[in-house]
Amino acid sequence: MSSITNNPTTIAVFGLGYVGCVTAACLANLGHKVIGVDTDPGKVANVVKGEAPFYEPGLEALVKSSVERGLLTATTSTADAIAAADIVLLCVGTPSEKTGNLGLDQLRRVVTNINVKLAGRQKRLDVAVRSTVFPGTCEEIVESVFAGNDLVRVVSNPEFLREGTAVKDFREPSIIVVGGSDPAAVERVAGIYSPLGVPPCLVSLRTAEMIKYACNAFHAVKISFANEIGALASRMNISAEEVMDTLCQDDHLNISKAYLKPGFAFGGSCLPKDLRALNYRASRLDIKLPMLCNVLASNDEHLNRAIDAVADLGNIKLGIFGLAFKENTDDLRESPVVTMLEYLIGKGRDMKVFDPHIQIDAIYGSNKNFILNAVPHIGKLMVGGLEDMLGWADHIVIAQKPSTALAEAIRASGKPVIDLVRSGTGQPV
Ligand SMILES: NC(=O)c1ccc[n+]([C@@H]2O[C@H](COP(=O)([O-])OP(=O)(O)OC[C@H]3O[C@@H](n4cnc5c(N)ncnc54)[C@H](O)[C@@H]3O)[C@@H](O)[C@H]2O)c1
Repeated sequence: MSSITNNPTTIAVFGLGYVGCVTAACLANLGHKVIGVDTDPGKVANVVKGEAPFYEPGLEALVKSSVERGLLTATTSTADAIAAADIVLLCVGTPSEKTGNLGLDQLRRVVTNINVKLAGRQKRLDVAVRSTVFPGTCEEIVESVFAGNDLVRVVSNPEFLREGTAVKDFREPSIIVVGGSDPAAVERVAGIYSPLGVPPCLVSLRTAEMIKYACNAFHAVKISFANEIGALASRMNISAEEVMDTLCQDDHLNISKAYLKPGFAFGGSCLPKDLRALNYRASRLDIKLPMLCNVLASNDEHLNRAIDAVADLGNIKLGIFGLAFKENTDDLRESPVVTMLEYLIGKGRDMKVFDPHIQIDAIYGSNKNFILNAVPHIGKLMVGGLEDMLGWADHIVIAQKPSTALAEAIRASGKPVIDLVRSGTGQPV
């Protein structure tokens, strides 16, 4: 980890709580000149004396050395901090309100206070929101306060540290995210972390805000998943630890990017069946698994969104690409496309369906039986070639990932497309 001395950038960190104080001390330790600001005079006095205002492993030593090196100071004065600052990091609290909504009072107050102190300012100020805020907040609360001041640029720079390992997490970040519409501002704020040697993810303002929520929701889901599987395993005298340890050894399908792309609802012969069996067994054992119990409901809801998007196209000629539950198979068991088509047939929609692996004349075995006996109404909609569907339809619905060649043929037809595989919710692409 290199350190930057003689860097003229001064960073004011507003809020000296868990995030702000760790950020301030770690940035100073990297060689930045940092001013910590808090409305709580006790926290400010701690930092001025070279003490951490709360317990966090490694923080006290960092605050002490940074203060001794003259790189970290603290104040309750917004005016003093803003006069010196080139970059502001907002680390104030955003606690839950009674309704569950995010409390933005501290954020509103701090940006209003800063704005008041900008009168007569000549130099640029980049304001980075490090607090966790819902997408749109940087625009609606922060940018709107500074509107009309060309010297101020706002970016989102969410924090991912964890209490208890906050200093280590800052120094070895799992990810650095900076979002904004002004590339120079985004790069300037990202630049303060450059000594850490982790390439930052530069994204849009709202994307940066959303990534933080996605990460925290993902962590919560992972914990609940492990706990629900663990509870069920333990009740059956199976080692929960061994099950989860072994699950984590699969970094191809389990701990990987696999299945983490927004897309169409799942189906097929395994996932719905096995989730049902797991939940049934858990209920027989008097174990409540609210998360696993609701996965199929979540999947149904996702399918409903797709069905609504297609139904909203109105009574036009629809060309449906794909019938099996995924590409490269002719397996129709629990295919969400079948459910969608049944709904649309019920609404009297005019459709032709093409699936590269389901040719009605050539299909055999259990799938032939299924098409001819269980869903003959769908069998009648099947066409033998993609061109038969493309030439006829007004609108194409991609319900299964096409090969590169077939995707190109669909694109070349010039027909409008709803791609359920890429957008999941039927947004036009
Ligand atoms: N604690 C975590 O582990 C963690 C991790 C990542 C992100 N976050 C997010 O970071 C934000 C801060 O979290 P925290 O745990 O550090 O909160 P905190 O409550 O510990 O600290 C917030 C600080 O802001 C100060 N403050 C309030 N109004 C101020 C103002 N107008 N001017 C200056 N200071 C002001 C408060 O006095 C307090 O010291 C939250 O949005 C939180 O969701 C927290």
